[in-house]
Amino acid sequence: MADIDSRSGTAYFDKEILEWVDGVHHPHDAGLAYAFAAPALHGMPAIQVGRAEGALIAMLLRLAGARKVVEVGTLAGYSAIHLARSVGPSGHVWSVEYDAKHARVARDGLRSAGVEDRVTVLVGAGVEVLPALEAEGPFDAVFIDADKVSYDQYGRWAAKHLRPGGLLIGDNVFLFGRLLGDGDDAAGMRRFHEEARESFDTVCIPTPDGLLVGVKR
Ligand SMILES: C[S@@+](CC[C@H](N)C(=O)[O-])C[C@H]1O[C@@H](n2cnc3c(N)ncnc32)[C@H](O)[C@@H]1O
Repeated sequence: MADIDSRSGTAYFDKEILEWVDGVHHPHDAGLAYAFAAPALHGMPAIQVGRAEGALIAMLLRLAGARKVVEVGTLAGYSAIHLARSVGPSGHVWSVEYDAKHARVARDGLRSAGVEDRVTVLVGAGVEVLPALEAEGPFDAVFIDADKVSYDQYGRWAAKHLRPGGLLIGDNVFLFGRLLGDGDDAAGMRRFHEEARESFDTVCIPTPDGLLVGVKR
């Protein structure tokens, strides 16, 4: 039996334990280390996925045999490196980033990780760029990690353009603790959860800010 704190993990982990398990299970090579450090070095928000989440997403993609992957929200390319390594040399990742500076930093990171040939970083708002990718589909996975107010639109796009068995992954689905609050972003995020359930078998993992994983039916 576990109480609510231990079920959500908060009773058992602390900074030192997390650092130790990251070192054992989610080691960084030079490419990942560069991209992980890049936001802080370039005056960008350090809001990339955690090391365990990056490794988990990469593992899920490998299990699904993903070759064609779309990401919304590139930042400095940390998660994109994980995605690119998962799809292998014959696969491709299209990563959409609103901020041109973030996209530039990401391209440098992808180059230093040796995966620049298998990632296309597209600059623009996700809702505007995604339609231009449709001819490349159907896709094997869509990873959503950008503006929270648009998650419901991204989820609908994914439901339409993923193959059966394809993966929908969304980070920050607890909306920084405001999921059940007022406001357009909270309502949109709740719609994302509920609509995902209509087309996907879903699980919502209680990572620090919630990670939704869905397999398209
Ligand atoms: C949480 S960060 C992405 C982190 C990245 N996935 C990683 O883990 O390395 C969110 C990114 O989404 C970008 N963004 C914000 N609004 C966006 C939009 N409408 N379309 C595309 N990207 C957007 C931000 O500029 C930021 O770089």
